[in-house]
Amino acid sequence: MTTFSPTLDFAKKLDAQDPLASFRDLFLLPDPNLIYLDGNSLGVLPRAAQAKAREVVDEQWGRDLIRGWNKGWWEAPVRVGDKIGNIIGASAGQTIVTDSVSLNLFKLATAALTLQPNKKRIVTDTFNFPSDLYILQGIKQLLFSSPDSGRGVRGEGEIIRIGASDNDITPDLSALESAINENTALVTLSHVVFKSGYIYDMQRITELAHAKGALVLWDLSHSVGSVPIELDKCNADFAIGCTYKYLNGGPGAPAFLYVNQKIQNKLSSPIWGWWGQKNPFGFGLEYEPADGARRFLAGTQPMLSMLIMEAGIEPTLKAGMPALREKSVLMTDYAIYLTEQVLAKYGFTVGSPIDSNRRGSHVSIRHAEGYRINRALIEEMNVIPDFREPDNLRLGFTPLYLSFAEVWEGFDRIRRVMEEKKYENYPKQKLTVT
Ligand SMILES: Cc1ncc(COP(=O)(O)O)c(C=O)c1O
Repeated sequence: MTTFSPTLDFAKKLDAQDPLASFRDLFLLPDPNLIYLDGNSLGVLPRAAQAKAREVVDEQWGRDLIRGWNKGWWEAPVRVGDKIGNIIGASAGQTIVTDSVSLNLFKLATAALTLQPNKKRIVTDTFNFPSDLYILQGIKQLLFSSPDSGRGVRGEGEIIRIGASDNDITPDLSALESAINENTALVTLSHVVFKSGYIYDMQRITELAHAKGALVLWDLSHSVGSVPIELDKCNADFAIGCTYKYLNGGPGAPAFLYVNQKIQNKLSSPIWGWWGQKNPFGFGLEYEPADGARRFLAGTQPMLSMLIMEAGIEPTLKAGMPALREKSVLMTDYAIYLTEQVLAKYGFTVGSPIDSNRRGSHVSIRHAEGYRINRALIEEMNVIPDFREPDNLRLGFTPLYLSFAEVWEGFDRIRRVMEEKKYENYPKQKLTVT
């Protein structure tokens, strides 16, 4: 355990010992004075992605035109999926890049429920990303509540949402354990939760669910590229995740889905499109699913952003998860130390687990004026965190391109906002994107 000190010199010493320090050069940071603490929402632009964007537009689309589909475009969802598989502990043939996280959740959760028509329960938690909860509510309406959904699943379904065991930092694990019963078709949780950054024990929860005969689906959006993941080793059934946060794939880059090969061919996607058809260029009139996870493709994929994203994930693959995790833990420990040393006297409290084993790569610091503080930081101080209701100032620590000196400087600028009460100049009325 490192003994921290609150001085800038100490932060510089940590930078001097940082084995990942040179990775910063792989990224285009727009302004040397900007403290970017939002890589957990949108990663910064990798130089390789910028070069790839030019190549894809000018040479591939511009010159190859339709021939591009036979020059690596068609296979991209599987090829890039396997690369992401290396980051999430998935052997080849189980990870596919496609669509958004929300759509992938819809496809996989619907398939999981359809596979087990006699089970009516979905277990999740109030820590899950709201879009995931909405998708589950939509599935419940589609599969359970209509008089005849045509899918063979009838009667009342139920979604059990586990709450917090403390002040919205840690889920109630004993409630989770008792909610998973023989009637449970699916347990679906965010591996790292989006507000507090709590990390579920994937292995333990997966085993717990399997012991009751339930399938498990993990949302990896906040853990992919930030914490080591072992989907195969944990025997997870399904996973989904985005590529625009820690993987630096670019805004709106396509998401990925993982389906354990043990169950792939038993599952039916609720969206039967030609990309998921066994022989798409046979143009047969009847749908026959492709073998394996490819059946969860539906239609034509966003090739420009997929190929740019493929280049964007290279720094993560090169650094490797053990080194990234080591720096991330040191950074988030340091951030918690600085919160306690520098910011506690202004009324901030830590809204993330103190134990780094249970914490991802972002730290929420809580303050009743969190929203206005966030605005002052963005608009006056050249610091970009984000704000999550009701009082979380969320600070993302991305080990690939963030330095310890920047972390120190970010905290110092928050201190100045508080010392000078700069946040009082901003309305309580919120902007659309926070
Ligand atoms: C944990 C989590 N799940 C799901 C989503 C939704 O992803 P998408 O907009 O790609 O559907 C997000 C978006 O930020 C997220 O953070």
